[in-house]
Amino acid sequence: MGKESPFRGDIVKGKVALITGGGSGIGFEISTQLGKHGACVAIMGRRKPVLDSAVSTLASLGIPAVGFEGDVRSQDDAKRVVESTFRHFGRLDILINAAAGNFLVSPEDLSPNGFRTVMNIDSVGTFTMCHEALKYLKKGGPGRGSSGGGTILNISATLHYTASWYQIHVSAAKAAVDAVTRNLALEWGTDYDIRVNGIAPGPIGDTPGMSKLVPPEIDSKARDYMPLYRIGETWDIAMAALYLASDAGKFVNGTTLIVDGGLWLSRPRHLPKEAVKQLSRAVEKRSRDAPVGVPKSKL
Ligand code: HXC
Repeated sequence: MGKESPFRGDIVKGKVALITGGGSGIGFEISTQLGKHGACVAIMGRRKPVLDSAVSTLASLGIPAVGFEGDVRSQDDAKRVVESTFRHFGRLDILINAAAGNFLVSPEDLSPNGFRTVMNIDSVGTFTMCHEALKYLKKGGPGRGSSGGGTILNISATLHYTASWYQIHVSAAKAAVDAVTRNLALEWGTDYDIRVNGIAPGPIGDTPGMSKLVPPEIDSKARDYMPLYRIGETWDIAMAALYLASDAGKFVNGTTLIVDGGLWLSRPRHLPKEAVKQLSRAVEKRSRDAPVGVPKSKL
């Protein structure tokens, strides 16, 4: 927080955004930055004290903000919060699905209900919010006149690109979120002019995810093989959200932007760089110098 934005201050001016999980962590920074760039902000969450404190911080920055209690697992809550946002601000342009659930657990210790709980928050919750928001987001929806449709951003992860220890439930849930992003981008992009994208953050400091999933001693060790040698900031994710939610991203639809400094590509270095250079030259030399007819396996 407090870092300067490279974007103009009015890039989402006049827009109304609803952010689930907007009271803390990544969701709160997205709420703050959308607000700082001109949007009115509604945040949805389960914990009233968290919502109240977030709304008062947003208000102190001059951001028109309101909080609505609700659980994305409840279709009634989703419907009520979307309607309340529309009633409060008169329109809805941007839906950000940032609410998520997580804990570390091995598959054999995870009950089917534990698995289902995370699927329900992350995947079903994301779909439910999109489903309930559609009538407000679509082209020609209430308050939209005949202007283009709104936009949706789903916060995902990179866990499921390969596989992740103790994260089978979240990997499955985020894979489903990415599928929802792509399918809605196709269908609602075509039918209603709604752009649907995602963001896959890497490890981000000062978030519930980081404190729940990465003990501090592991955290400092892990930095040794991170491509950019650092963990991200909530600001990094919020800037990606601004790009995708504003007209800067007006031709981007159906993508999930990875914002992790390249971490998902990283592998521990198995040989030092100098050793590779020598080894590689030596192997070439051996193969050049070898008498013709010697089988490769003998080189
Ligand atoms: C094993 C667990 C568990 C644990 C819960 N369960 N915690 N199993 N290890 N540590 C099981 C319970 O035993 C139960 O199954 C089922 O999950 C539901 O648990 P409840 O406590 O009843 O659920 P609930 O109160 O609804 O809480 C949901 C929650 C909780 C997901 C468990 O942690 C939560 O509300 N989290 C929201 C905030 C959050 O996690 N934010 C971090 C997001 S980080 P049984 O069978 O016993 O009934 C993030 C980053 C992703 O998303 C990307 C990472 C890189």
